[in-house]
Amino acid sequence: MKDVRTDGQPKRVFIRTYGCQMNVYDSDRMADVLRPLGYALADGPEQADLVVLNTCHIREHASEKVYSELGRLRAVKTERRAQGRDLTIAVAGCVAQAEGEEIIRRQPAVDIVVGSQAYHRLPELLAQVARKAAGSETGRRQPGAGVLDTEFPPESKFDHLPSPQGMRAGSAFLSIQEGCDKFCTFCVVPYTRGMEYSRPVAAVLAEARQLVAAGALELTLLGQNVNAYHGEGPDGSTWSLGRLIRAIGETPGLARLRYTTSHPRDMDDELIAAHADVPQLMPYLHLPVQSGSNRILEAMNRRHDRDLYLRVVDRLRNARADLAFSSDFIVGFPGESDADFDDTMRLIEQVGFASAYAFRYSARPGTPGAALPDQVPENVKVARLAALQALVGHQARRFNESKAGATVPVLFAEAGRKPGQIMGKTPWLQSVYAQGNPRLFGHIVDVRLIEGYANSLLGEIVVGPHVIGPYEAAA
Ligand code: SAH
Ligand code: SF4
Ligand code: F3S
Repeated sequence: MKDVRTDGQPKRVFIRTYGCQMNVYDSDRMADVLRPLGYALADGPEQADLVVLNTCHIREHASEKVYSELGRLRAVKTERRAQGRDLTIAVAGCVAQAEGEEIIRRQPAVDIVVGSQAYHRLPELLAQVARKAAGSETGRRQPGAGVLDTEFPPESKFDHLPSPQGMRAGSAFLSIQEGCDKFCTFCVVPYTRGMEYSRPVAAVLAEARQLVAAGALELTLLGQNVNAYHGEGPDGSTWSLGRLIRAIGETPGLARLRYTTSHPRDMDDELIAAHADVPQLMPYLHLPVQSGSNRILEAMNRRHDRDLYLRVVDRLRNARADLAFSSDFIVGFPGESDADFDDTMRLIEQVGFASAYAFRYSARPGTPGAALPDQVPENVKVARLAALQALVGHQARRFNESKAGATVPVLFAEAGRKPGQIMGKTPWLQSVYAQGNPRLFGHIVDVRLIEGYANSLLGEIVVGPHVIGPYEAAA
C-alpha cells in the first residue's frame, strides 16, 4: 500500500534529529521504513505531511527543546487543517521512551509516540492513526487521542528494517550495539534504550558490505556502549569488538573505520591490539572519562578510577603512537568540590585531548544522582565549565596547529564556508577547508595542511592528488 496525497503528490516526511549519533542512524532507518509507504523526504515541516521528532532525553535542556518544537508544529497543523489538509506529528527516540503518554497530555496535537526500540512499527502506527481519523465524525483524529508504542518489543528492530539507504557523502553510521547496563548515576540511557544488546556478527558484516557498496569509504560503528559489544559469531561463539573490527577491516573498498562511544572499563586487549593492527582503524578515539576525581567517579558509579583511565590511554598510545583522544566531562556532579574539579583539570593536562565535550550536570528524573544531597549551585557549574572549556579549547588549538605542514588524506563531505571551498575530515576527525570541486564529496584526497585554528584547519589539495573513490566506482 502506498500513501499518496489526494492531489496526487507523493507524501513527504520531515525528520528532525536531536541527541547522539545513534539517533542520526535511527532517523535514517525511519526514513527507510517509511519509503515503501511512499514517503519522500521533505526539507522542512512546512513541506511535510508527517513530521517525526527523534528526541534526546540526556539533559533537561534537550528534553524541553522538544516541547517548544511541538508547540510550533501544533500551529502548523492548525493552519494546515484550515486549508483542508493535515499534518501528522510523531515523537520518537528517548523522550518518547522516557515520558510516553505524558507527551500527549502536554501536547494533544501529537499523533504518535514511538519508543527507541519500536520504530520499525511506524507503518502500523500510521495505519492506526488513519483508522482513528476515519472512525471519527470530523474525519480527523481528536486531540489527545494519539497512539503509543513504547514497549521494548521482544523482537529486535534490526531484524525488521529494510536495507539502509541513507548515506552522507562517503561516510556511514552502523549501529552494532544498543542500550547500556552500566547505570552511571547521572545517566538516563539505561532507561531510555534498555538493556545492552549486540547485533549478530553476520548481520553487521552484511550491513557493512552493503554500505560500502553504496559508496561509503568510512564506517563509524555505533553503540551507547560500543566496546561492550558481544555479538554472536557465525560459529556460535561470542565476538568482542576487537575481533569484529578485524573482520570489518577486511571489507573490500573500506578505507576508514571508527567506533563510538566507548567505556574505559571495556577497553580490552583485543581491542587495543586492533588499534595497532587494523590499518583502517582511524587514529582518533572518543573515550569519555566524565571526571578526574576518584571520589566523584565512584559517586557516578563509573566503575573505574583515574588511574585505570590513564593506564588505558597509555596502552592505546603504545599500540598506536599517533592516536588522539577526545572525551566527555560533566562538571558540577553532586558533591563535586573545588579539589575534585582540580583533579579533572589535572587529568586533562596529563592526557592532552584533541577535542572534548563538557556539560553542566543536569539532574534527570529517576536517576540516583538526582536524589543526592549537595547539588552544586548553577553559578559554580557555569564557572567550572568555562575554565574546563578554556583548557580543552587551548589543547584542541595546539593539536590542530601541530598538524600544519603535514600532508594527510581528507574525506570531503560538504561545501565550505567561503565560495569555492569544500570541507572534509582528516583521520583525526579535524575539519579541513580547501578550495576544491564538489565532485570530490565522498572521496578521499591528499591535502597539505597550511594552518591550524581552534576548530578547523586550512589546507590545499595537492597537485595530481591521490584520490580514493567509492568502491563500486573504482571496481
Ligand atoms: N555512553 C556514553 C555516554 C552517552 S551520553 C558513555 O558511557 O560515556 C553522552 C554524554 O552526555 C556523557 O558522556 C556525559 O558526559 C553527558 N551526560 C549524560 N548524562 C548527563 C547529565 N545528567 N548531565 C550532564 N551531562 C550528562
Ligand atoms: Fe550512560 Fe554510563 Fe551507560 Fe554511558 S556507560 S550510556 S554514561 S550509563
Ligand atoms: Fe540522547 Fe538518547 Fe542519544 S538520550 S544522547 S538520544 S541515547
